[in-house]
Amino acid sequence: GWTMTSFIEKQVEVIRREVGDKRVLCALSGGVDSSVAAVLVHRAIGDQLVCVFVNHGLLRQGEAEQVQRTFSERFNMNLIYVDAEERFLNRLRGVTDPERKRKIIGEEFIRVFEEEARKLGEIEYLVQGTLYSDVIESGTQTAALIKSHHNVGGLPEDMELKLIEPLRLLFKDEVRQLGTELGLPDEIVWRQPFPGPGLAVRILGEVTREKLEIVRKADAIVREEIKKAGLYRDIWQSFAVLPSMKSVGVMGDGRTYAYPIVVRAVTSDDAMTADWARLPYETLERISNRIVNEVPGVNRVVYDITSKPPATIEWE
Ligand code: XMP
Repeated sequence: GWTMTSFIEKQVEVIRREVGDKRVLCALSGGVDSSVAAVLVHRAIGDQLVCVFVNHGLLRQGEAEQVQRTFSERFNMNLIYVDAEERFLNRLRGVTDPERKRKIIGEEFIRVFEEEARKLGEIEYLVQGTLYSDVIESGTQTAALIKSHHNVGGLPEDMELKLIEPLRLLFKDEVRQLGTELGLPDEIVWRQPFPGPGLAVRILGEVTREKLEIVRKADAIVREEIKKAGLYRDIWQSFAVLPSMKSVGVMGDGRTYAYPIVVRAVTSDDAMTADWARLPYETLERISNRIVNEVPGVNRVVYDITSKPPATIEWE
């Protein structure tokens, strides 16, 4: 019969046989798929795997530290951590258009990744956390574990890497099961989806350090309270958005003029459609009180009660 343990053993064997003594590269994002794929490949070939984690400075509170803790310390993986916050923020200065922001972040990400890959020298394979659903979506019918000589989007032409996609036959719930079996912590296995451009698309308009700090703090409170209420796994995504406008409030004896925070929480199966989550009033109240009290620069909290369509999940 099919068990997770036999799946792992089989994959480990296949990967070892394919890779031999060659080196393998992995772009680690901290998301479920790339994390599980990396740990599985690491189990097969150990230090022949090199993971690159690019911190673009648009991550959530504690995320970069957690990736280092988990992969470097706990799994003892060969992890290259790149602190590229300065680079990304410089390139984003003055940029307000959502698609321009995405494009800049995507390009810069590839540039940083390329630089690291070049420093490493001879590499033959790239690990990708492609799932069965991605395979179907992209219309590729071959469910092979390893595709050869695929030209990886974004990598330089002369760097022809072969892809290792050990999750190609799995659904999301199986990937989570596999992650747990491989010893990944719940915070990674049960992580809600997080967009590649990160907090940059949750700050409307220009991204600045000040706004990043505000939205990051507010986001941490939203996550914490949703978890405390036992709702984190049932909600598809829950987060804070910072619109670039200010409104009047009153605190103590004084009038304030500060940012609002938009709380967004949705239920969904696949992000194609989504419904706003009917969060308990008590949870909303705790989130609101904590954000206004704990996050300087915020004097108001609103809850987004729009579904998708007509709205999207993200605000940008
Ligand atoms: P929307 O906002 O279009 O989002 O309803 C649907 C899903 O996609 C995620 N998302 C992104 N993921 N890069 C990503 O990797 C992006 O630029 C991006 N924009 C949106 C969003 O978080 C939701 O899960």
